[in-house]
Amino acid sequence: MSLVRWAPQLNIGHELIDDEHKYLFDLINEFHEAYLTKQSRDQVMRVLNRLIEYAERHFKHEEDLMRDAGYPDLDEHRRKHEALFEKVFELNSRFEDRAINPTHEMFSFLKDWLSDHILQNDSKFGEFLAARAKTTS
Ligand code: FEO
Repeated sequence: MSLVRWAPQLNIGHELIDDEHKYLFDLINEFHEAYLTKQSRDQVMRVLNRLIEYAERHFKHEEDLMRDAGYPDLDEHRRKHEALFEKVFELNSRFEDRAINPTHEMFSFLKDWLSDHILQNDSKFGEFLAARAKTTS
């Protein structure tokens, strides 16, 4: 059973970014599945670490694209990425310390963080790119 499911409204209209977002969804579902199928704690942690590493690469890639496109809200967007990361690292370290059970706070956070961020923030970059393409065509 998937924890998160891709929906057409999550596409921002930039093929590479949309593909990276879909892969992040796959990794969130893989992490959830690893837990559900009772894989060892080390295996679950490995999937979570892959998710965190890929999210870091994605955020950097997205910020590079924003900078190259002259996106005016880059600094604000970067701060939102940093805030998301702080929260993920905090949950990750509490999970490593066995202070939380992954079924609760962490799954609930992962379920919302990416889709909320895409719908509320990344979509604005998609709109910026679409408007810029119109004025240059
Ligand atoms: Fe796709 Fe702003 O993260």
